[in-house]
Amino acid sequence: MDKIITLEEVKNNKNIQVLIDTANSVLEAMGYTEHGLRHVGYVSKVSSDILKTLNYDERTVELAAIAGWVHDVGNAINRNFHGLNGASMLYPILNDIGFPIEETAIILAAVGNHEADTGIPVSPISAALIIADKSDAHRTRVRRKNFNPNDIHDKVNYSIKENKVSVNADERIIEYRLRMDASSSVMEFMEIFMPRMVMCQKAAELLKCRFDIVINDSLINNHT
Ligand SMILES: [Fe+2]
Ligand SMILES: [Fe+2]
Repeated sequence: MDKIITLEEVKNNKNIQVLIDTANSVLEAMGYTEHGLRHVGYVSKVSSDILKTLNYDERTVELAAIAGWVHDVGNAINRNFHGLNGASMLYPILNDIGFPIEETAIILAAVGNHEADTGIPVSPISAALIIADKSDAHRTRVRRKNFNPNDIHDKVNYSIKENKVSVNADERIIEYRLRMDASSSVMEFMEIFMPRMVMCQKAAELLKCRFDIVINDSLINNHT
């Protein structure tokens, strides 16, 4: 019987640790928001929480947590195509850790499809990962020493004081609720988040749910 690999084992893997740190410093050099342990920890937790609440089995929930933890390692090479590069880089590493190929394949497909320009939701784990990743917009992600008030990403992220993904399994609704202050606007949010929010809607569809976006208590994507 194949060994069951836990999230803890993946977190303790030296190769994964170095790649996450390197990815974060590459993106810091590019002026991007935080992509380190806090970001991958958020994505890992929210991905697995979504599938748990929707009553997926325990192993699927744990694989979502693992996929969330490793999803951004491709940034260690380059921001462009980081989903695809990440999946290729992870193949030998996950093999060495001892994952059965069936689980490795599920994780690689989720990682390789998490970016809006190169991917689509391809499985429940992939869909949950997309929603978790794209929902991580918050002022704590803006790197203070690099903060650029003229950069729309910094400006929008900085204005977000609260964000929360919640799942209503009975009504099949995944709600993304944000609170923004007046330092940015819903218009600016949509300017940079539109492709990501459309991807989240598709991901929710794969999970047989509706995706509601609520900003400052207003539902901005009414479903008619
Ligand atoms: Fe990414
Ligand atoms: Fe990410």
